[in-house]
Amino acid sequence: MTQKISGFSRLSKLEKINWLTQTYFSGKEEATQLLKTYWNSDKKLQQLHDEFIENTVTNYYLPLGVAPNFLINGTYYTIPMAIEESSVVAAASKAAKFWEERGGFKTTVLGTTKIGQVHFMYHGDLDHLNSFFIDIKPTLIEDCKPITANMEKRGGGILDIELVDKTDALANYYQLHGTFETLDAMGANFINSCLEQLAQSFKERFDADVRFRESELSIIMSILSNYVPNCLVRAEVSCPVDELTEKGIEGKEFAAKFAQAIAIAEVEPYRAVTHNKGIMNGIDAVVLATGNDFRAIEAGIHAYASKDGLYKSLTHVSVEKGIFRFWIDIPLAVGTVGGLTKLHPLVKWCFELLQHPNAKELMQIIAVAGLAQNFAAVKSLTTTGIQQGHMKMHLMNILNQFEATKTEKSQAITHFKTHPVTHSAVVNFIEKIRS
Ligand code: MEV
Repeated sequence: MTQKISGFSRLSKLEKINWLTQTYFSGKEEATQLLKTYWNSDKKLQQLHDEFIENTVTNYYLPLGVAPNFLINGTYYTIPMAIEESSVVAAASKAAKFWEERGGFKTTVLGTTKIGQVHFMYHGDLDHLNSFFIDIKPTLIEDCKPITANMEKRGGGILDIELVDKTDALANYYQLHGTFETLDAMGANFINSCLEQLAQSFKERFDADVRFRESELSIIMSILSNYVPNCLVRAEVSCPVDELTEKGIEGKEFAAKFAQAIAIAEVEPYRAVTHNKGIMNGIDAVVLATGNDFRAIEAGIHAYASKDGLYKSLTHVSVEKGIFRFWIDIPLAVGTVGGLTKLHPLVKWCFELLQHPNAKELMQIIAVAGLAQNFAAVKSLTTTGIQQGHMKMHLMNILNQFEATKTEKSQAITHFKTHPVTHSAVVNFIEKIRS
């Protein structure tokens, strides 16, 4: 029988597990043992993971794979990817190799500005508010100095604050809209601290100003935005159309079909969502491996995909004068300092693998991973179809479901080199060799 519990967070880890297994599990011993199997024997390391969040009961593993041979602006990278989907790393590696032979990836950071807003309601005269804001803007920024001083020394800080009238959208709604440069930090803590200070100073000065005796101002919230259309990076590949010829498919024919597939994703949201999901396979995997916030990245990128009022492809293609060009523009607010980057040992390992990129370099690497993933997916979709490759990669998952032995696995791999992989074909094969 399930039941309610109070004071759960104050229980020890073992007490929490006991309560969970007694309340929800028929096999209490096995359920407890499974959680313990995933504990790290290094107590310090386990404690580190326990303390990342509240109520940790165990660790949740994802594979960390690597995709080598990414030639980006003339430098080779091996890209770390934390992801469970079987075909993603293989597809990235294939795309890396394909483009390495055709000049590699080129990238450009188009902007690094981040956004945060103080949302407030104001009942009063707009002219008073405007002139008050102009008067106190330098003071508001000055009040943030204790927070911004270090960031400013390194070349970042608050770039601007604007007063925005949003009353057309919502009655009495206004904002202080801040733009920020946070350099190698993702910047969430910095921006949110600045915003809370701005809100406090703004309200205090408002309350003390005689012009507002008859007016009312209520701060609703102060928070960064994960929509960062001006923290933007471009990654691209290009080559003569003839060089796309592969495995009996003419370059011209491939380029035309590929361009058509992208054109479909530019006009059809049902396709665009799946198209962009494929891009996120690459992006999320690198974002996660480098300890960044993949939910923030996801939210920001999908908003960007809808910026023209229709959800569209994030990648674009042109075939002009015999040259095939394929590119992606995406907003990416990532950090290479702070957060998990200095805390999680595997994240540190991934940074060393990437040769310690700064935030701008990491933006470029992540954009390349997204572009490569999309190239691999659309290439398969418009030529062989994806199932052939996917099911080959999925073979191991099916074999593991049936607890295949090492010998059974190697027999199956040999057999399915020349036979199509389907779930039932693998089941039949296992049953046959076992009988
Ligand atoms: C599967 O994870 C991703 C794809 O569906 C992407 C796409 O359709 O472009 C293959």
